[in-house]
Amino acid sequence: MKVLGIETSCDETAAAVVENGDHLLSNTVASSLDLHVPYGGVVPEIAARSHIEVILPIIDAALREAHLHIDAIDALAVTQGPGLGGSLLIGVLTARTLALAYHKPIFAINHVTAHVYANFITASNLPGYALPSSQPQFPLLALIVSGNHTQIVLFHGYFNHQLLGQTHDDAIGEAFDKVAKMFGLPYPGGPSIARWAVHGDANRYQLPKAKLTGHYDFSFSGLKTATLRIAQAAIGADFTLPSYELASRLSDTQKADIAASFQRVAIETVVDKTVGASQEFQPRSIVIAGGVAASAELRRQLADRLPVAVSCPDLKLCTDNAVMVATLGCFKARFGQTPADPYALDIEPNLSM
Ligand code: KG4
Ligand code: ZN
Repeated sequence: MKVLGIETSCDETAAAVVENGDHLLSNTVASSLDLHVPYGGVVPEIAARSHIEVILPIIDAALREAHLHIDAIDALAVTQGPGLGGSLLIGVLTARTLALAYHKPIFAINHVTAHVYANFITASNLPGYALPSSQPQFPLLALIVSGNHTQIVLFHGYFNHQLLGQTHDDAIGEAFDKVAKMFGLPYPGGPSIARWAVHGDANRYQLPKAKLTGHYDFSFSGLKTATLRIAQAAIGADFTLPSYELASRLSDTQKADIAASFQRVAIETVVDKTVGASQEFQPRSIVIAGGVAASAELRRQLADRLPVAVSCPDLKLCTDNAVMVATLGCFKARFGQTPADPYALDIEPNLSM
């Protein structure tokens, strides 16, 4: 069973071929990230235009890398949502057209759920992938942390999951991006903060963790504001100082210490809840997924505090990619899920899990 996955929910245009839900045959990604850097975040119109320009060459490259003609593909899988409307539209319309032209079934994929399935890849024809030796087992606890999502989900089976908690405001990746912007560091903020944090004292500043009634719910907007206040206070200013002045007025030591303290607390917040859920639900596997799963600090804290090993996707499979989409597509096809109607499949920008 070979599935061609297509992903265009944000600024990455990606296509990949996965066989039998565990074997990676190809993975191609074109990012329009460089075009968004001057704006400090993804500009939806620029992302959509860029998808149009590269989607066909990217699909072509994924098929060539897998040494396959599209005739040899058994099914298509495409991200239906959540994501940017204009971006999703390009992927979904392309997939629908291919499904009709080549008579292939097409499976609609939830982008957030798909992130978890990056952990099911255990073999690859391609060099340079650090993959787990076996697939995760159910019940599976997943911490999904990206620029748009922060969720803890318990999977009882492939298509049976329970949302334990999620963020009430900013996603954790979004908090990293906003704090980085405050310091004049480039987008995406996660890696920028991580680079500064290496040289900083993570205990120099005490920042708050939000307490919410929902046991596994999150909030990051208070942490973001507290970080701004600490940065203002560090240079002797009050809350009226505009955040765009911080980049030039903070010393390198102050920036490094604030970045390290923020990173420690933001990551501790999600690790606390993951440890709690692991104790309460006793899952057989624990996985992390989404762009923030690339964080070395997250991997370190989880390894320190959990008694069982946590499965982490290869870094190339943490950020947006089509491998995860094709993998979930393989399971949908294998377990007899109904394919979508290629004449009617629509985008769902606000799709939830
Ligand atoms: O999953 P993803 O590629 O796109 C979304 O679906 O959101 O995640 C992107 C997010 C960005 O917010 C970025 O700052 C964050 O992942 N990120 C990180 C790291 N690498 C990427 N956050 C913390 N530490 C990192 N090393
Ligand atoms: Zn994502």
